[in-house]
Amino acid sequence: MKKVSLLGATGSIGTSTLDVIAHYPEQFSLYAVTAYSNVQKLAEIAQRTNAEVAVIGDKSLYSELKEALKDRGLQTKAEAGEKAIVEVAKAQEVDVTVGAIVGAAGIASTFAAAQAGKRMLLANKESVVCGGQLLMDTVKKYQAELLPVDSEHNAVFQCLHGASEEMRLHHRIILTCSGGPFRLRADLSGVTVEEATHHPNWSMGKKITVDSATLMNKGLEVIEARWLFDTPADRIDVVVHPQSIIHSMVQYGDGVVLAQMGAPDMRNTIAYCLGYPERLNAGVKPLDFSKVGQLTFEAPDLKRFPQLGYAYEALKMGGCGCIMLNAANEIAVEAFIAGRIHFIDIAKVCEVMMNSASSIAPKNLEEVLEEDRRSRILTKEFINGFSGE
Ligand SMILES: NC(=O)c1ccc[n+]([C@@H]2O[C@H](COP(=O)([O-])OP(=O)(O)OC[C@H]3O[C@@H](n4cnc5c(N)ncnc54)[C@H](OP(=O)(O)O)[C@@H]3O)[C@@H](O)[C@H]2O)c1
Repeated sequence: MKKVSLLGATGSIGTSTLDVIAHYPEQFSLYAVTAYSNVQKLAEIAQRTNAEVAVIGDKSLYSELKEALKDRGLQTKAEAGEKAIVEVAKAQEVDVTVGAIVGAAGIASTFAAAQAGKRMLLANKESVVCGGQLLMDTVKKYQAELLPVDSEHNAVFQCLHGASEEMRLHHRIILTCSGGPFRLRADLSGVTVEEATHHPNWSMGKKITVDSATLMNKGLEVIEARWLFDTPADRIDVVVHPQSIIHSMVQYGDGVVLAQMGAPDMRNTIAYCLGYPERLNAGVKPLDFSKVGQLTFEAPDLKRFPQLGYAYEALKMGGCGCIMLNAANEIAVEAFIAGRIHFIDIAKVCEVMMNSASSIAPKNLEEVLEEDRRSRILTKEFINGFSGE
């Protein structure tokens, strides 16, 4: 029986993880479940899973969580605050930590799980984008195991399985991209929040859905792939594949390509990581190729979706370029969802803010978090005085 800490249990990845775990009650039990502000949903999850600890990120909600657990007659221990999330990420009792918090708020707990040598199922791509080489070195130093939940990186992980060092020397990574909801829309100036938060193929949280619409999500994935697979950016390509059946590919030195396919359902990749190296069945309907029809491919349009290009630029810049791009995007997406800026302004904010990134790479987690904080403050100031022109 493996004990799991599920960080971000109330979100989209959290919900899919709970669904997969429910299929295997003899293999997994919940040690901890966490959320930021959704107290009632967290308490309901604690009840359903019999979790030992429930943590709410917003400290001011501690009493409310305690009451909610008590009302349900649960023995589950209530905890609150960012430090408490870090504690359950690295707790001795835990075998597997699932990082499904959204945004840079997930960085500290990812590093904590790595330093504790855990098996990490990592959905929180922002940790890899901001932590970069530092995170990968930490994983190696403490013999942690980082299994990528993101469907593209999970696909690459599967395609690289068994490849020798020699074979890896000449591989190319080909990340597939649905193209998002605006692939065929010429003018993006009037995009509404409602339109940008509905993805054609995937059901996901709000932030990543907007990122998919701007292609920033693919940009973050390019950065993620660079570190996860130790592959330089000039050997990472992006191809638009609107059907989302091929989740990504690896081309080896002989030109042959391995592709991983499946239904667009995150339960597949979560089950793969939970069971690794065995395969667990997540209960997702298998692909029926007679119904899939055509698989098509096209180049991404960097004019309408410049944020994908910014990700390559941030990698080239080095220093804190990726941290700044990630923070600027997060703050700009928040402002867009709040109705303060237009959809097309998200890219403008990112472009301008990248010029303010420090050229010195962070040496430890504290410096990563400090640069993230600094980038957010600068971006907020810029948006406050932003005319949109
Ligand atoms: N959804 C997907 O299909 C998908 C695919 C690939 C990768 N990912 C990545 O997985 C991560 C999670 O995405 P998601 O779509 O599941 O997001 P989501 O549905 O928005 O869920 C986010 C989770 O994080 C918690 N949270 C939010 N802010 C927090 C904070 N400051 N401190 C602690 N916890 C916080 C939320 O709690 P509350 O509910 O209380 O707010 C919720 O449990 C993201 O990094 C995303 O890029 C997602």
